[in-house]
Amino acid sequence: MNEEVKNKIIEIMGRYPKKESALMPALTLVQKSKANNLSKEDVAEVANLIDVSLSRAYGVATYYSMFNVDKGVGKYHLQVDTNIPATLMGALEIFNYLSEKLGIKHGETTSDGLFTLSKVECLASCGTCPVVQVNDKYYELMTKEKVDMLIDSLRKGIMPDLPVEYNWKSQCNVLLKNRGVENATEIEVYKETGGYKTLAKALTMKPQDIVTEVRESQLRGRGGAGFPTGVKWGFVPKDTGKPVYLVCNADEGEPGTFKDRQILAYDPHLLIEGMAISAYALGAKLAFIYIRGEFGWIAEILEKAIAQAKKDGKLGQLDNIIVHQGAGSYVCGEETALIESIEGKRGLPRMKPPFPAVEGLYGCPTIVNNVETLASVPYIVENGAEAFKKWGSEAGYGFKLFGVSGAVNKPGVYECPMGVSYDELIEMAGGYKGNITGVIIGGLSVPILTAEELKKGPGLKMDYESTLDYGTNLGSGGVMVISDEFNIPEIAARTIQFYNHESCGQCTPCRMGSGMIVNLLTRVAEGKGEPGDLDKVLWYCDNIKGNTLCPTGEAYATPIKSMITKFRKDFEQLITI
Ligand SMILES: Cc1cc2nc3c(=O)[nH]c(=O)nc-3n(C[C@H](O)[C@H](O)[C@H](O)COP(=O)(O)O)c2cc1C
Ligand code: SF4
Ligand code: FES
Repeated sequence: MNEEVKNKIIEIMGRYPKKESALMPALTLVQKSKANNLSKEDVAEVANLIDVSLSRAYGVATYYSMFNVDKGVGKYHLQVDTNIPATLMGALEIFNYLSEKLGIKHGETTSDGLFTLSKVECLASCGTCPVVQVNDKYYELMTKEKVDMLIDSLRKGIMPDLPVEYNWKSQCNVLLKNRGVENATEIEVYKETGGYKTLAKALTMKPQDIVTEVRESQLRGRGGAGFPTGVKWGFVPKDTGKPVYLVCNADEGEPGTFKDRQILAYDPHLLIEGMAISAYALGAKLAFIYIRGEFGWIAEILEKAIAQAKKDGKLGQLDNIIVHQGAGSYVCGEETALIESIEGKRGLPRMKPPFPAVEGLYGCPTIVNNVETLASVPYIVENGAEAFKKWGSEAGYGFKLFGVSGAVNKPGVYECPMGVSYDELIEMAGGYKGNITGVIIGGLSVPILTAEELKKGPGLKMDYESTLDYGTNLGSGGVMVISDEFNIPEIAARTIQFYNHESCGQCTPCRMGSGMIVNLLTRVAEGKGEPGDLDKVLWYCDNIKGNTLCPTGEAYATPIKSMITKFRKDFEQLITI
């Protein structure tokens, strides 16, 4: 490693309470300096510098999919996301076109060492799929023509700019209020619209009064589980003598979810203000933003905004907010795996209890909240709990970002009051494109609804209770609309392939069960299934659910079961023996 990289790593080690936390940032830096590749010798050098065992460093370097240890990746690594929303929006066609054009398959590199082609999982860009990530850069809404332009340009050594227009709209004007404002990522622009005034107000309040206000607003976590935020904050034990940490979960890993990046990339100061207020309420002096590794370009936006806020004295009582980049692991979105990852380890979920609020990062009380949750806090502190509750109902209060992808005319991000009707949301997204067979409304880990189910009953509302009444879950609010262009068995097979790929492997039911289901559903989808296969899958689903260490097992067992039970005929038609 060169001196510049070495000095940077030493500087990063000094940022964290424990230097081991610098392991992932160090591997990322070294990989960048080595044309996107890492060798075993590089890993050993990093281990030596940070003073961790080689086995630990190697374990970390080979756990996260973005570290290319001895993979021999070419100058341009073309990563085509082929998860479900991407497939619904034509990604496989783009992948096949690239494969033909370059004469290479998944995981292969062209003989001149210029291009490596890979299929990857959801890149949190589902509204603008098909997306191809080239090294650190996203190319969205790709077409064959744009692929031609991209490859021609890369062959000349130029990473082109191919900007895209996003669809978005706001009915509440809170979380997306600065979307579309020029230079909104600059602190001066943010302040012009009243930014950081709420922080000043919060700092005149008693911390406990802020916790009470947030609890009374009944804000529920927007990361997927919907746990009441104020209640969680109340679990932080008092006077333990240990520091309290605040961690913002910006992993945005759930397929179908691409909402947090709207705040992170377009209004970073809103999140920073929310974090400064929350940290003050919780008594935290150090905070972290754990951001998925593929969002390296957004991490840069955040770091710049944090530096501006720090310089301007806008972090409240926080000494710093550290942006910690992941490196390609879905399970690291789970809060305890995320904590392990910040500690410089493989992202393996921990057994709970103890819950992070009591014993989290470095064994200290830690609050993990989603980006959208923390960005909602300034509104509540500024306007009060009652104002927040003017939106929605007991079934869920406030405003919410919904991402709509798949078979709609305007896939995009829409800010609506909690409880907006599903039909209205689809209307905002430009209406259906084609004949709809099913919809997954809360990210890939919630049960599918059939088009018929959506027509029945009082009409689905996008809140915590109505979705339960319809037998599904609000989850992260990532709505994926499926048309009859796609068959559900193929979608089910691809779904379980994703979870099997991401399973951290700690518990047998999840590790082995997901593998068994992959084998069964893949052969069914390929028309090679046998009678009894579907019942075997259902048996596995029933026995995985409730028997795993973290919620990932249930996160696939439940939707897979719903696809088979609701679309059984489609599966059976493929079993012809
Ligand atoms: C496998 C798995 C992946 C998750 N991914 C995310 C994620 O990408 N972003 C997120 O905010 N929460 C994610 N969560 C939920 C977190 O564990 C945690 O509940 C959340 O960050 C808490 O924040 P909230 O209360 O503000 O929602 C995930 C959970 C699981 C089980
Ligand atoms: S359920 Fe899966 S992802 Fe979660 S700890 Fe077990 S093996 Fe890991
Ligand atoms: S970014 Fe393409 S599937 Fe999510």
